[in-house]
Amino acid sequence: MNHPAREQWSSRRGFVLAAVGSAVGLGNMWRFSYLTAEHGGAAFVVLYIGITLLVGVPVLLAELAIGRGSQRSPIRALVHYGGRRWMPLGFLFVAAGFLILSYYSVIAGWTLRYAGIALVSGFDSTIADQFSEIATGWDAFAFHLAFMAGTVAIVGSGVKGGIERTALLLMPILFLIVCGLAVYASTLDGAGRGYDVYLATDFSKLLSFRVLKDAAGQAFFSLSLGMGAMLTFASYLGRDHHLPNDSMLIAGADLAVAFVAGLVVFPMIFALGLSEQVSGSTVGALFITLPQAFAEMGAVGRVVGFLFFAALIVGALTSAVSLLEVVVASTMDGLGWPRRRAAVVAGIAIAALGFPSAWSTEVLGVVDQIANNLFLLGGGLALAVFVGWVMRDPIAQVTIGAEGVRWFSLWRFFLRFAVPAILGFVLFQAVPDTWNAVIDLFS
Ligand code: TRP
Repeated sequence: MNHPAREQWSSRRGFVLAAVGSAVGLGNMWRFSYLTAEHGGAAFVVLYIGITLLVGVPVLLAELAIGRGSQRSPIRALVHYGGRRWMPLGFLFVAAGFLILSYYSVIAGWTLRYAGIALVSGFDSTIADQFSEIATGWDAFAFHLAFMAGTVAIVGSGVKGGIERTALLLMPILFLIVCGLAVYASTLDGAGRGYDVYLATDFSKLLSFRVLKDAAGQAFFSLSLGMGAMLTFASYLGRDHHLPNDSMLIAGADLAVAFVAGLVVFPMIFALGLSEQVSGSTVGALFITLPQAFAEMGAVGRVVGFLFFAALIVGALTSAVSLLEVVVASTMDGLGWPRRRAAVVAGIAIAALGFPSAWSTEVLGVVDQIANNLFLLGGGLALAVFVGWVMRDPIAQVTIGAEGVRWFSLWRFFLRFAVPAILGFVLFQAVPDTWNAVIDLFS
């Protein structure tokens, strides 16, 4: 069963940067900002950080343990530890990869388009009105295809030669750009109003259930959890890795980039007095408001805008790669296909599935909700139960390479009780919410 020539990362740095590359993406800049704006700033951020640490990190560690321990792609890994009954969960993971990448790539296509506009002509004041043309129809579909082609090319080149190399090259650039933009944003007149909103601590907003659901969904989405992406990456790891340290590093880097991205987005929007437009916070808000801010900055805005969208492209690409890798690794393991063929065929199928999302931002929004609220949170719940209750001796698995760690029984306790309780509660409400969103779409 075990493939003798299974691919491996070449270094710890390579694996960690690839995993951080998976985590850091559109979720950190686009989704994090609009959710934070919608839910009252820092109070939401605090809740989100809490859920990341209490629920996200334990599930991340669980995925890493299954992946490294089994050295298999998700479907086979679950069967390896849990028997054939767990196969459907593996198929659910692969389906989630399909679904998420199909619309994620459409949004990534918008960022490609915007980076191109910044480079070629710069933004002008009509950019807000152009959004619907950019975001939907054949234009959106074409850029979605271009982005998918890039993703396929990287995944097709292999774990070391494609995924790891891309992450080693591009992730440092992303960190530099985001930090540089945060410094620039702080020099804008009126940046303070942005910080006031971003860092306002109105904890009363947290009392609504929807906020908890959004924070949990965001934590899973941003850490790439609940569908076997981290699991698949960990299956290319050797035994000597300290998984708890790696998972803290990945979660820490993901939180840090989201936080710094907020320090870019909020000051820019508020310095230019464009805040009313974000309060509607649909999926597109950031793509309407920010380019307008860049347009008002004149020549500087062109450079700043290009850098901003370039960082988004990098984040999106390294994340899309991890989504496609779940599908590709499963196809390679399951059907015995070579990597390249698996990447091309999966890429074409996913590109086609993205057509409706490229056609309407409403559809895209609903698919995003289905993927998050049902697939990722449900997948996370099932994973926690799997490792907490089904897998024999998961503690022995994570202890390899991390012998001195004392809190693994607490980790298991969390997976058994706390994580399922929190996710169960969230799902109990998220399911009807998602259902209503689907009904709304058709009415
Ligand atoms: N984490 C990425 C982001 O924040 C998106 C992503 C990549 C993802 N792989 C995933 C989300 C797997 C869920 C599951 O943009």
